Amino acid sequence: MTGPLVLGIETSCDETGAGIVRGNELLADAVASSVDEHARFGGVVPEVASRAHLQAMVPAVDRALATAGVSASELDAIAVTAGPGLAGALLVGVSAAKAYALALGKPLYGVNHLAAHVAVDQLEHGPLPTPAIALLVSGGHSSLLLVPDLAGAVVPLGATIDDAAGEAFDKVARVLGLPFPGGPHIDRVARDGDEQFVTFPRGKYHDGTFDFSFSGLKTAVARWVEAREAAGEPVPVADVAASFQQAVADVLTRKAVDACLARGVPQLIIGGGVAANSRLRALAAQRCEAAGIALRVPRPGLCTDNGAMVAALGAELHARGAQPSALDFAADSALPVTQVTA
Ligand code: KG4
Ligand code: ZN
Repeated sequence: MTGPLVLGIETSCDETGAGIVRGNELLADAVASSVDEHARFGGVVPEVASRAHLQAMVPAVDRALATAGVSASELDAIAVTAGPGLAGALLVGVSAAKAYALALGKPLYGVNHLAAHVAVDQLEHGPLPTPAIALLVSGGHSSLLLVPDLAGAVVPLGATIDDAAGEAFDKVARVLGLPFPGGPHIDRVARDGDEQFVTFPRGKYHDGTFDFSFSGLKTAVARWVEAREAAGEPVPVADVAASFQQAVADVLTRKAVDACLARGVPQLIIGGGVAANSRLRALAAQRCEAAGIALRVPRPGLCTDNGAMVAALGAELHARGAQPSALDFAADSALPVTQVTA
């Protein structure tokens, strides 16, 4: 076993994550979610999330240490999501991480949540060959990035101009009467549906940019369902879910493959909660193979927010001798994707 022993803390949204890695080896991944507390509001309520983080933080770290079979004093470093995310939620993790770092006398890395979504793949598939193109698709972000180096600057190639991909899944799920968060439910019901039942619009498909737009698609699904209901006809939920999911997966994989080809980078990594989607994974595999692109996608459990991804990036930074963050760094809800550490 080699590599630094790192505790990673994640509190950017509704998951309280505490993960422990040794280099690229995953030792523990404790996650407590407040998702059930938000379900009846149909979206994450920031204040509710912050309070839940406060309650779950220390137990999650204790659980991670126990699972990994290490004591806090053995840690080489601590890493925490500094942003982007919900300000109040980030604050809980950043404060806890600073307290642990100060009390234990360990270096602290405040890291970028999006870069951590990329780094987590190293826990499953080993060192990431760079340069790579990264497609990051979550509840708050949809971006195509050029990653010349995991610990260095990331170059944004494109991003959504309106809704994030996960946001579209969540909103369409609501239209179809499925629970929040909608992504996993759409994925599940779509298995019995016909993806060609409705041809929903593919925003920005032919515009030659690496930007995305999902707002028109979301509206198109809502209009289609409304028309059906107005006509007194039943809504074929599985078919609509499958058709919507296909539209999202089609645009995402087409643009990701185009970015690889345009940049001459035959490496694609997909991360973020939406990367758990079965149709996206299958279509990406198919199109990457056809284009001669090596595809890496972490297993679904590592795609959604967790502490191990933060620990993975922290371990990479520590192993490279990166400068730790000053203890007075601030949580930054709008931390730019180009900035790997705070
Ligand atoms: O990365 P993540 O856990 O949190 C953010 O950083 O936002 O992503 C959460 C998003 C939610 O919108 C959720 O509906 C979506 O990821 N998601 C999925 C699936 N699992 C989670 N979307 C589509 N298919 C899934 N299987
Ligand atoms: Zn995320």
